[in-house]
Amino acid sequence: MSEKTCVDSEVKEEDDLKNIKHTIMVISGKGGVGKSTVSVNLAYTLSKKGKSVGILDADIHGPTVPKLLGVSDRRLEATDDGRIKPIEVTPNLKVVSMAFLLPDSDAPVIWRGPMKYSAIRQFLQDVYWNNLDYLVVDLPPGTGDEAISIAQLTKADGALIVTTPQSVALLNSRKAIGFAQKMGIPIIGIIENMSGFICPSCGTHIDIFGEGGGLKAANEFNLPFLGKIPLDMDIYSSGEEGKVTLLSENRSKNAHVFEDLADRVLKFYKER
Ligand SMILES: Nc1ncnc2c1ncn2[C@@H]1O[C@H](COP(=O)(O)OP(=O)(O)OP(=O)(O)O)[C@@H](O)[C@H]1O
Ligand SMILES: [Mg+2]
Repeated sequence: MSEKTCVDSEVKEEDDLKNIKHTIMVISGKGGVGKSTVSVNLAYTLSKKGKSVGILDADIHGPTVPKLLGVSDRRLEATDDGRIKPIEVTPNLKVVSMAFLLPDSDAPVIWRGPMKYSAIRQFLQDVYWNNLDYLVVDLPPGTGDEAISIAQLTKADGALIVTTPQSVALLNSRKAIGFAQKMGIPIIGIIENMSGFICPSCGTHIDIFGEGGGLKAANEFNLPFLGKIPLDMDIYSSGEEGKVTLLSENRSKNAHVFEDLADRVLKFYKER
């Protein structure tokens, strides 16, 4: 069977996913801009607001969502009827990741496109997600196999573009925008991460990666600008220590940025 034929027949199975109300793809053209950080904080904040949320870590080669959530040592199990039970972070927040299947965190995944497509299909169709309001999909950088698979297998109805202010990131975020537009996925907006740093000693605001790029890209494409997330030690260490879920409880001065982002996402779906 050709890959094209295989894809077409699998897409029909998307009916199985009807219990997922909304699928949000978190995309960037460039690596390391904070997609996973944004994905987990957004998902957790939505779950805290009473929504039923899943995170699909679609970064097959470099899955980091379990580490950010402090659940790396967990392993996937089967339900009685042979489906995959997602890992429950809180009753409202479930996650599935390649990391739960690897023997250890150093094990490489050496797979070509069709195998990645097949893994992502299983993560969608064989997982017992059980009525989600939002499935947040954390993607690897770029617009390759993983992003295409998600776009084909789900009725993704929101793309969140993550960028940083410097020109090289913006150049690539134009590609992410073009991808979403070509695939017919409505764009929720652009969020600028690592946007400025306030020196904890002297309070000086420093725009390490420049300034205003995300807003400029949003204006250029006539897309909503969803705000700026500063470079922040609490955001960094909450991920490093696998304690993303404690960020807001610790009353980090920047925890509100994810509250604001979640509100913008909810507003986007309310107004559609
Ligand atoms: N606003 C921020 N303040 C401080 N550190 C941050 C911030 N956003 C992200 N980081 C840190 O930057 C690093 C990269 O972030 P992250 O893994 O979320 O990026 P990514 O876009 O998912 O990367 P990849 O493309 O490799 O998947 C991580 O160590 C993360 O903790
Ligand atoms: Mg990532």
